[in-house]
Amino acid sequence: MKYLIDSANYTEIDQALRVGAAGVTANPSLYLKENVSFYDFLKDYHDKNILLTAEVIADDDEDLVRQAEKVIEISKDIVIKLNYSAASLKFARLMQEKGIKTAITLVFDINQAMMAINAGADYLFLFVARNEEIGVDGLELIRNISRIVESKGYHTKLVAASIRTKYQLESATLFADYIAVPYRLMEETFHHPLTVSGADRFADDMKKVLDTGEALA
Ligand code: E4P
Repeated sequence: MKYLIDSANYTEIDQALRVGAAGVTANPSLYLKENVSFYDFLKDYHDKNILLTAEVIADDDEDLVRQAEKVIEISKDIVIKLNYSAASLKFARLMQEKGIKTAITLVFDINQAMMAINAGADYLFLFVARNEEIGVDGLELIRNISRIVESKGYHTKLVAASIRTKYQLESATLFADYIAVPYRLMEETFHHPLTVSGADRFADDMKKVLDTGEALA
């Protein structure tokens, strides 16, 4: 299981990549929140040897191809991320033949997942918290789809998305190939109270060990 930092904030992204995140994913709301220039953002991260997704939103099939071409011009390695729709599945099929990777996002149930898999999508973004807001067990969804993918040998990778709690993060780890993780949850791992108190104790004791060593020298 690998982490994709779910953010358009440069500081968060850089921190996450430095501690081992395998890639960067965001969505239009995150680009807007951070006020980033979309194409500059892609240019800044496309050559870092990471998995980078670019959300492509379009009004119709032709517009979809036009928007995606602008991204592909920056790099053929950027994964084109598309909202689940008939146009997106058609596009995913087309891109499979051209060797361009696609991710289908806003996937909320098994039927949508199977349709996207059959269309040839490389990644599925399965939404946990947003599903739970409507009373659907988002973690169970990932568990079930991962069983199907594994038993049938599909190549599609599962990304657990809409992860907002430590519990969702831990549970999704068991079944997803990637987790789109907000930096807040990555950072939380550094503040476990027993890690913090244990580190303080080790630091104090180490100081004493070194002081004793110096006194004996
Ligand atoms: C994934 O593509 C999305 O950026 C993200 O996981 C959505 O999370 P949210 O439901 O907390 O907005």
